[in-house]
Amino acid sequence: MGNPSGPMLLLAIETTCDETAAAVIDDRLQVRGSALATQDLVHERFGGVVPELASRAHVERILPVIDQALATAGVQLDSIGAVAVAHTPGLAGSLLVGLSAAKALCVALDVPLVAVNHLHAHIYACRLAGGADVFPCVGLVVSGGHSSLYRCRDPLEFEPLGGTIDDAAGEAFDKVACMLGLPYPGGPAIGRAAEAGNPRAHRFPRGLIGDHQRLDFSFSGLKTAVRYAIAGPGTSGRVDPSHLSAEQLADLAASFEQAVVDVLVAKSREALRATGCTTLCVGGGVAANRRLRAALAETAKRDRFRLEIAPPALCTDNAVMGAIAFERLRAGLVEELTLDIGAGVVRRAASAAPRTGS
Ligand code: KG4
Ligand code: ZN
Repeated sequence: MGNPSGPMLLLAIETTCDETAAAVIDDRLQVRGSALATQDLVHERFGGVVPELASRAHVERILPVIDQALATAGVQLDSIGAVAVAHTPGLAGSLLVGLSAAKALCVALDVPLVAVNHLHAHIYACRLAGGADVFPCVGLVVSGGHSSLYRCRDPLEFEPLGGTIDDAAGEAFDKVACMLGLPYPGGPAIGRAAEAGNPRAHRFPRGLIGDHQRLDFSFSGLKTAVRYAIAGPGTSGRVDPSHLSAEQLADLAASFEQAVVDVLVAKSREALRATGCTTLCVGGGVAANRRLRAALAETAKRDRFRLEIAPPALCTDNAVMGAIAFERLRAGLVEELTLDIGAGVVRRAASAAPRTGS
């Protein structure tokens, strides 16, 4: 088991939603090899992730992806010293594929199993780029399933400060993209469309922004406002964007994006103020958004706090951020093989996409 003469190698596995990923990382946090298979083409025509299709795609891809990660690292399975797996939160069927593969490898190789919280790992992506002194910090995760703020005292202690009470930020991007006739995933598509638009063309609501005590998010009012701007007030059902000119579409995309950015910046500032932290770490797919990155950088400069945003390649789901498992390993936190997936958290299922009238 493992490689007693060299650095300890960790195999990290990620299958929480619609990306199948594996990475080989050494105990100096150097990424030796990494592989990722997206399922965008599987889910595109549904405008959101279909959980059953996601699980089946993970089953097909998990072994080739692990093989590819090992091959890019130039190592064999028998040099792996521990296996880490994201076991919560996520789609139940998807999580089970990664967890089962990880357990099987632990039995076969006789190595420890390390549990990774996917949201904590998104924040840890900032530590990989920014160094150990990013802690203590406020952590903001903005992904397809979550918009969450944490007080991170150290890499093992994440205290939730607030989260979304309805749609997550990425979910809002995906649903609004669907309304605008843009492809899935919606975030990158809206980002591109917004470049040519006027972010002040529409004054969309900024949910909960006036409630300074509350570190929660709400994006459903914003989503409805975009719907009404496209289809008319009080409308429901499927939105038809075909009457929009390119300029109107760009203005809607830019104004929507600006509203999300304003909320995320405002709540991050509130969290920094409430905790007294001077570092903000931001991860998750939406953290790849250029307008958000620019607005946060400007705010950090003005308010004089340290900002670490995960590198774009580590914002969306990946296995490299599973390197957080080394923190648990060092603290002796390894799991029994009875480890289960976290309580069933269902994320941005296609059934909630705007075409159903939500
Ligand atoms: O972190 P992630 O890959 O998966 C989850 O854990 O959910 O986040 C995916 C989400 C999707 O909703 C996608 O539309 C959004 O991140 N996203 C973006 C961008 N890239 C991905 N949102 C805004 N701008 C982007 N450039
Ligand atoms: Zn994620």
